[in-house]
Amino acid sequence: MIRELTKLEDLEKQLDLWIEVTRAAEAELNEPQPRPALERNGVDKEAVQQMSNLLAKAKDELNEAKQEVAENEAKDGEPDKSVYIASHPNLSMVQSIMHSGYMVGGQVETTAAQGASGSASAGAEMSLSQDALTPPQKLFGGIFDEPGPGYAVGWLAGVTYSVFQKTQPFRKPGPMVKLGNKARIVVAGDWGTGHARAQAIGKMMQQCLEEAAPDQDRHVVHLGDIYFSGLPSECSSRFLSYWPSQPAPDVKHWSTNGNHDMYCGGKGYFQVVLGDQRFSAQRFSSNFSFGNDHWQFIGLDTAYDEWRLSSVKTGNQAVWAAGLIKDAPNAKRVLLSHHQPWSDYEGNKPAKAGAVAVDAAPLMADGKTAAWLWGHEHRCAIYNPLQPAGWVHALPFGSCIGHSGVPCKPTKEQGPNARHVLLDSTAGVIPGNVGETYGLMGFAVIDIDGDQAEIRYYHELDPQMTSPHFTASL
Ligand SMILES: [Fe+2]
Repeated sequence: MIRELTKLEDLEKQLDLWIEVTRAAEAELNEPQPRPALERNGVDKEAVQQMSNLLAKAKDELNEAKQEVAENEAKDGEPDKSVYIASHPNLSMVQSIMHSGYMVGGQVETTAAQGASGSASAGAEMSLSQDALTPPQKLFGGIFDEPGPGYAVGWLAGVTYSVFQKTQPFRKPGPMVKLGNKARIVVAGDWGTGHARAQAIGKMMQQCLEEAAPDQDRHVVHLGDIYFSGLPSECSSRFLSYWPSQPAPDVKHWSTNGNHDMYCGGKGYFQVVLGDQRFSAQRFSSNFSFGNDHWQFIGLDTAYDEWRLSSVKTGNQAVWAAGLIKDAPNAKRVLLSHHQPWSDYEGNKPAKAGAVAVDAAPLMADGKTAAWLWGHEHRCAIYNPLQPAGWVHALPFGSCIGHSGVPCKPTKEQGPNARHVLLDSTAGVIPGNVGETYGLMGFAVIDIDGDQAEIRYYHELDPQMTSPHFTASL
């Protein structure tokens, strides 16, 4: 991650520079004889218009983001110096194209770690070199003649994505995949940053799979989100490169769809991730299931139509799940999704977590939903039984496992409904650069034996997984 693209105030400066570059391109195209290099590099009036639209929308989103961050900082009583990842589609796309542009343009340097986190920086590992920070008036004289520097490369990529990005079709799920009577299921969420610390979590997950007993059926689940906007190149470089390597059919790999995966239209998620051999059991669908007579794991898509399980775009996923439930009426079930049906931290607004809970109500009618694991918030939280309005039965075990790959500030409060939260006061923090602290990253593992299931949570300060920081029966 590049420091200047993941600090809001610096990102704003970059965005303003890119807006200036775009305006300069527009002015050049209005000259009687624009330089031929522009046309040669795909910079025509339509492209400029596309880019200008994208940047304008990103700028609006950045202003919203600044307000949200300011509100959170006021609530916390301290500035948030951690890495900033936008939850806004256009701003995320801009982060993606700037990142790839500067990487290809060779305009980044490794940030020296200043904290006690070992050789790698706990937060952003890179920063922009001086020439990437040069005002665009000077750059513009050369960039379209010699498209090498980050502005030109990223700018052109941005045009390509904003012109050609099309939402991938929602695909029908395959039949339920058989789960062994004894099984190990490793679960991580919001892991797709490619950060050195996320890579270390990936190695722990791999070890967890390797250490499974020979008679344990092995599964590994990602709860979604590859940053910044789920581009095919990001899915390859930040996700597939470091994801546990044990291939199907020996180990089955699954991934729910996340909001960041959809920011580019889902092409990276549906084609690159689900197209990888390890994920072949998922059959290119963002709905998936594996189970036996005792347990059913059901993967829901809350991102295709964000915060909805039932919509014209996705159909009614509760109806699909009900068909699976009918085949094993006595099985307990574990729901898997990117977005949460509940949060002690981000509220339960009717348009967000509240909508997920409403759509999921039919799945809570028979009292067999034993657990729901989700990501999205970049923290680890395990809740006391939850019963939003409209649920016949409470959810005995709800947990956010969104702390697997994004460097972000530590969670400081337990939350009114929480049973366990990975807090800085109990589990420690990782110091980053001066003035920065980061909450711990981790993941969970479920071991199943007949009708028994146990879930354990590990974090990065215990790489050998000698003792889980939380354990529960499901
Ligand atoms: Fe998310």
